[in-house]
Amino acid sequence: MDRYAVFGNPIGQSKSPFIHGQFAMQCAQCLQYEAVLAPVDGFADSWQQFVATGGKGGNVTVPFKEQAYQLAEVLSERAEQARAVNTLYFNSDGQLCGDNTDGIGLVSDLKRIGISLQDSTVLLLGAGGACRGVIGPLLDSGIKQLVLANRTVSKAVAIVANFDSRVIPSDVTDIPALNYQLVINGTSSGLTDERPDIAAKHLTACQLAYDMVYGAKPTAFMLWAKANGVPQQADGLGMLLSQAAAAFTIWRGVIPDIEPVMALLKQQFAA
Ligand code: ATR
Repeated sequence: MDRYAVFGNPIGQSKSPFIHGQFAMQCAQCLQYEAVLAPVDGFADSWQQFVATGGKGGNVTVPFKEQAYQLAEVLSERAEQARAVNTLYFNSDGQLCGDNTDGIGLVSDLKRIGISLQDSTVLLLGAGGACRGVIGPLLDSGIKQLVLANRTVSKAVAIVANFDSRVIPSDVTDIPALNYQLVINGTSSGLTDERPDIAAKHLTACQLAYDMVYGAKPTAFMLWAKANGVPQQADGLGMLLSQAAAAFTIWRGVIPDIEPVMALLKQQFAA
């Protein structure tokens, strides 16, 4: 049976084995998908061991996406842009290929929700790996302008240098006054029940407040956006499922439907 795995540290919380197990059943694919706890400084060894025992492909999560980027022999354009790899597989020449499906996961989820990105103005909060990985796919989907606002502005400035003039860096306390149709929280603030400290005036034109973090309850950012009149809020569960679906398609050549798996995960959260 073909073996796949997600590599992370910690990994116990990962939904990926459940998600890919559901995708496999849905698409009648005979495969095994496990979770591997790799030592923080030992991703490459864990991966090689997995491959030596029949591993065909992998997902990579925190903190190994940069190490996977270093390990891959062939990189997709979006992995190059993100400087991070979340999906590993072998091509027909046996070379290890690294891709990054996080950004298209976000864009697919925004489409699923019904947001039109063409010519839109987007405010993206944060300047860690999560934000760096989604800027390229957002630009590719036709947005007019993206302001990248971070608490530590130097990190936003460094990321913006890799993109075209549609992307502008900013300090969270000094965000340009534009009509943002979409505000995305790409910071990790939701993990500690906090939100980025931005002014509510930036939400005036906002149709959707999207938090890349997900959990059983709406995040502090989503609740704040709702209280300030934003008509729609979403967490990152759809992004998680969509990046997984894109990885599954790379490995297996079939496109799973995320909706039934999302319904099951929501049931688990509610239990
Ligand atoms: P990841 O790879 O998941 O993006 P990271 O590289 O640790 O994680 O980046 C976390 C991001 O969340 C950073 O942009 C961080 O801001 P700083 O660069 O100023 O540290 C941001 N962040 C975390 N907690 C935050 C909070 N409470 N308010 C605002 N920004 C926060």
